[in-house]
Amino acid sequence: MSSNTTLTVDNKAVELAVKEGTIGPSVVDISKLYAQTGMFTYDPGFTSTASCESKITYIDGDQGVLLYRGYPIDQLAEHGDFLETCYLLLYGELPTAAQKADFDYRVTRHTMVHDQMNRFFTGFRRDAHPMAIMVACVGALSAFYHDSTDISDPQQRMIASMRMIAKMPTLAAMAYKYSIGQPFVYPQNDLDYTSNFLRMCFAVPCEDYKVNPVLSRALDRIFILHADHEQNASTSTVRLAGSSGANPFACIAAGIACLWGPAHGGANEAALKMLEEIGTPDRIPEFIARAKDKNDPFRLMGFGHRVYKNYDPRAKIMQKTTHEVLNELGIKDDPLLDVAMELEQIALKDDYFIEKKLYPNIDFYSGITLKAMGFPTSMFTVLFALARTVGWIAQWSEMIEDPSQRIGRPRQLYTGPTERNYVTVAQRG
Ligand code: ACO
Repeated sequence: MSSNTTLTVDNKAVELAVKEGTIGPSVVDISKLYAQTGMFTYDPGFTSTASCESKITYIDGDQGVLLYRGYPIDQLAEHGDFLETCYLLLYGELPTAAQKADFDYRVTRHTMVHDQMNRFFTGFRRDAHPMAIMVACVGALSAFYHDSTDISDPQQRMIASMRMIAKMPTLAAMAYKYSIGQPFVYPQNDLDYTSNFLRMCFAVPCEDYKVNPVLSRALDRIFILHADHEQNASTSTVRLAGSSGANPFACIAAGIACLWGPAHGGANEAALKMLEEIGTPDRIPEFIARAKDKNDPFRLMGFGHRVYKNYDPRAKIMQKTTHEVLNELGIKDDPLLDVAMELEQIALKDDYFIEKKLYPNIDFYSGITLKAMGFPTSMFTVLFALARTVGWIAQWSEMIEDPSQRIGRPRQLYTGPTERNYVTVAQRG
């Protein structure tokens, strides 16, 4: 269904089409506005702008709802597994048993990386941030897999997608192993996706490694929770990079670079550092006061979200997962968890946070969980990137397959100098 709305510009009425989605806010189609009025719209940070039409993920930030292809995130996290979620995001429907077996097999066949990639790693300093390595290595995949960079070929697009979903855990584990000076562990394809990843991270050649099924299930759930989140900064980056026709490996590398920022994927690392800095519950009021102080740039990391103005539905599942992992590992008195629980309670009752609708987001708990599993903080955003790769690919594919797709080219409100003449250095005062 569609309708129109009227905008009056300089006393001239302009008819604009209103498009309706299946759920969520309608949009005013302003694509002809410039042609009709000579004006652009202005929306820094895109708080009111839909950049595309999408059928993949729906968020209702006020109600705390997150749906992948219509399925609530809590149901998928409770009953599904990550590869099933990947299938759902990519193809739009949950797989049948046969489709799932085939998909798992196809992903598994691509887990190894070209052996020459090993040399690529050794070019880095051992103390390089693993996100820097991931940006480089994922971008470099396009130099290794020339046979899947033609974006006009659906078969090549599919192979590139499989390759990235399958190789991301291998690359992430290699980045980790390199940073701690241990040998790379090759994938073992009879393990499920997440168990294989845990093994590649934590096994050493001199000992047997048994995957802990509770930790594997918990990490799989964390991957499900992070798999997609509609048009966030990194996904929009992937779409924008892809709109120029760049190859999929380059586009995902761009997404990883964007995800690295502390306001986005770097927040779980920042949240854990903040909890460590707070140290003990008695210091919480001091940090709450700093977060509220307009003259102090400090923010409570892991709180607030551009879209969720209610409890982040992923944070609820994450909180439960945190407790499962800590119980399994026998961590009864974790000082960071004590600080986290107390901080959450204090912030949820504080007028500042209530008025601004600042609730804990997923990153608030994921850091504690990943740390308990044995991952260093520098790997947290890497795990986020691993999980989000499927979302980026699904969104990128949707864009490529959209016949109305054009290169993304935002406009601007120019406030710089007007035209002026060049003056030579000698003549400048
Ligand atoms: N602590 C203290 N105050 C905050 C916080 C916070 N974590 N978040 C927002 N505010 C305040 C701002 O100071 C601002 O106050 P003002 O209106 O008086 O100026 C108001 O709340 C609105 O904040 P904005 O920055 O305008 O909100 P925006 O939607 O742009 O930012 C963001 C969202 C970036 C997530 C922000 O809440 C933040 O920086 N949070 C901490 C970082 C974090 O946890 N990021 C993870 C995001 S989830 C993810 O990427 C998976």
